[in-house]
Amino acid sequence: MSTYTVDTATSRATPLPAAMKRVSVPSVMSRKGGEPLVMLTAYTARTAQLLDPHCDMLLIGDSLAQVIYGLPSTLPVTLDMMIAHGAAVVRGSMHALVIVDMPFGSYEESPSVAFRNAARVLAETGAAAVKLEGGEAMAETIAFLVQRGIPVMGHIGLTPQAINILGGYGARGKSKLEQAKLIGDAKAVATAGAFAMVVEGVLEALAVEITRAVPCPTIGIGASAECDGQVLVTEDMLGLFERVPRFVQKFHNLADEISVTAARYAEAVKARTFPGVDNVYRG
Ligand code: KIV
Repeated sequence: MSTYTVDTATSRATPLPAAMKRVSVPSVMSRKGGEPLVMLTAYTARTAQLLDPHCDMLLIGDSLAQVIYGLPSTLPVTLDMMIAHGAAVVRGSMHALVIVDMPFGSYEESPSVAFRNAARVLAETGAAAVKLEGGEAMAETIAFLVQRGIPVMGHIGLTPQAINILGGYGARGKSKLEQAKLIGDAKAVATAGAFAMVVEGVLEALAVEITRAVPCPTIGIGASAECDGQVLVTEDMLGLFERVPRFVQKFHNLADEISVTAARYAEAVKARTFPGVDNVYRG
């Protein structure tokens, strides 16, 4: 049985078969304090297909810098890279809300530059929202985008695009001063109209305080189980890398499975048992 229906009800209907309805921005907002939101990163169509039934949101994170491209940080990621991967994830999914990270340099300069680039992201990928890093300093930009129809997910706490200012990827919010700053950031991002915000790498008690202080859902990573949802980099969660941050739980050991499988393939090639009779064309 197909899950596809053709919507011909109104002149605004899509002429293409529509898959099951995606999770919407308002439905994410309505989950504040309710059932935890499930979010994972995805960068490719096939991964998106596999994750989609299990996730409320799929994030094309600029973490693809390290995970896919072997870059030393997220700073060299371009808008074109994010758009190519964003479009692939939209093509591979039909249920989750798809959110694309705005890369470093594409939104900080001014609200109008941010709007032009975020509009390109939505138009060229089919994603429903963008995510951008920063607190109070980004509030004006967030409001500018939201008032013009671009849903924004905020990202506060440990913000990897600010690595050269922060000086490392350690947990944030250790001093009273920094705690007050981060609570101010969270409130500013929420007041600006962000529909949700990632809270990354902060002391647990602070994550709880932030979650209670803002009206939109908080999505924790290295934060607290009391956040309104959780996100992880999928490849970290799958155990593709040996060393992962303390806040990651490896739910599998994919690295070992890939190594063992590659070794089996190499053995079969060398023994000429692959390709077998089923893998070749005859007559
Ligand atoms: O880039 C990314 O993958 C992210 C998540 C870790 C939140 O921003």
